[in-house]
Amino acid sequence: MERCLVKSISLAYTRTGEGHPLLMLHGYPLDHSIWAPVVPLLQNSFELILPDLRGFGESDAPSEAYSLGDMAADLAGLLDHLEIERAALAGHSMGGYVALAFARLYPHRISGLALVASHPYADPPDRQEARLVTARAVAQQGVAVVADSMPEKLTTDLSLQRDLRNLALRQPPAGMIGALKAMAARSDSMDLLRGFDLPLVVVQGARDSIIPIQFGRDVQAALPAAQVVELANVGHMPMMEAPQETADALLRLLQQ
Ligand code: MLT
Repeated sequence: MERCLVKSISLAYTRTGEGHPLLMLHGYPLDHSIWAPVVPLLQNSFELILPDLRGFGESDAPSEAYSLGDMAADLAGLLDHLEIERAALAGHSMGGYVALAFARLYPHRISGLALVASHPYADPPDRQEARLVTARAVAQQGVAVVADSMPEKLTTDLSLQRDLRNLALRQPPAGMIGALKAMAARSDSMDLLRGFDLPLVVVQGARDSIIPIQFGRDVQAALPAAQVVELANVGHMPMMEAPQETADALLRLLQQ
């Protein structure tokens, strides 16, 4: 992977393909490699930039607290480093929350937004509390607490579950803890999306047990211009479970 220093954080990223820049943001507790199945399907249409978000993969994992806005600022620094003024953003789950924070902070730098198994709503109090409980468990017992329990919620595909468990086991505890606290503290982004006049794509797995399908339907009802794509027989990992359909949906970001 290539590296870039943004403030004091070293970020790892890969860059491939040609076309309009598309920043692809992975979810929790994973890294850029989840996008591998869609890269060959998109690299003739986009310049793909796949960072490991701070706390994950080969990027630094700071131990002090940070927000999704800080994670978005890392990406603005990465775009500066690459001399890219504007990019489309595709965010998977937590990556979608980071993309929304980016859209709020840097509206002039975004050309379109795709939420992949993600949504614009804030956490209700019980979900916030559950995240903080998990953060304490990771601090005390390590990342296996999450790696052992989460894959079965991500997909019903047993082989993918094994791969995702191994990927989660490789993530640093500080990254999981930082992301859990940042996700718990995020605000609702529906106000932002109501004013969003760029391409907005939402990709949802009908069998996603983490992000209810109803969330996508609610977004569609509130924002008729949104392009909501529901994928049958797909869980929380559309880019791995249905790469072609996911790539086709992301190509809609190029439509004006
Ligand atoms: C993710 O897949 O990034 C997380 O599960 C999102 C969440 O917990 O809200």
